[in-house]
Amino acid sequence: MSRIQSIVTALVVATISFVAAAQMPNDAVLAPYGGYEGLGKITHDFVERLQKNPRISAFFKDADVERLEAMLTDQFCDVLGGGCKYSGKSMKEVHAGKRIATADFNALAEDLQDALTAANVPTSQQNKLIARLAPMHRDVVEK
Ligand code: HEM
Repeated sequence: MSRIQSIVTALVVATISFVAAAQMPNDAVLAPYGGYEGLGKITHDFVERLQKNPRISAFFKDADVERLEAMLTDQFCDVLGGGCKYSGKSMKEVHAGKRIATADFNALAEDLQDALTAANVPTSQQNKLIARLAPMHRDVVEK
């Protein structure tokens, strides 16, 4: 193999490894959440809480729950650094025109915290996820 061929091969291998690593759930990061599967269960419980919460349930009455759960699980995994790539719509786009207020945002954050507590996720890890979602406030809340 020529020198150039070796370099090209090394680059291709490095790129493939990088892409694979970027999209593979990172077990250590997701361990406090019960892995990717556990995170999916937490999201399911979270969405059920949203649908039952009289403060905000109206927002979710026509929601595509299956998609919402799948998108949220990947987004949580992504922001935690768990190796997923969120593939849903932008936060601005998906919440535009829904007239979501800060009080609604806080109600949702409380439901997420309750779902995490119910799954025995340690407080420090709960805070990590909430802190990474908090800046999205500016793209979600309109009033
Ligand atoms: C940091 C806070 C929030 C995050 C990370 C978040 C995340 C998401 C995601 C990932 C989706 C799905 C996107 C897609 O389908 O491509 C979504 C949809 C939606 N979100 Fe949020 N959201 C947040 C806050 C809120 C709040 C406060 C409300 C209302 C109380 C809300 C109501 C909705 C509704 C109604 C949908 C559309 C569901 C559907 O029609 O199927 N979200 N959100």
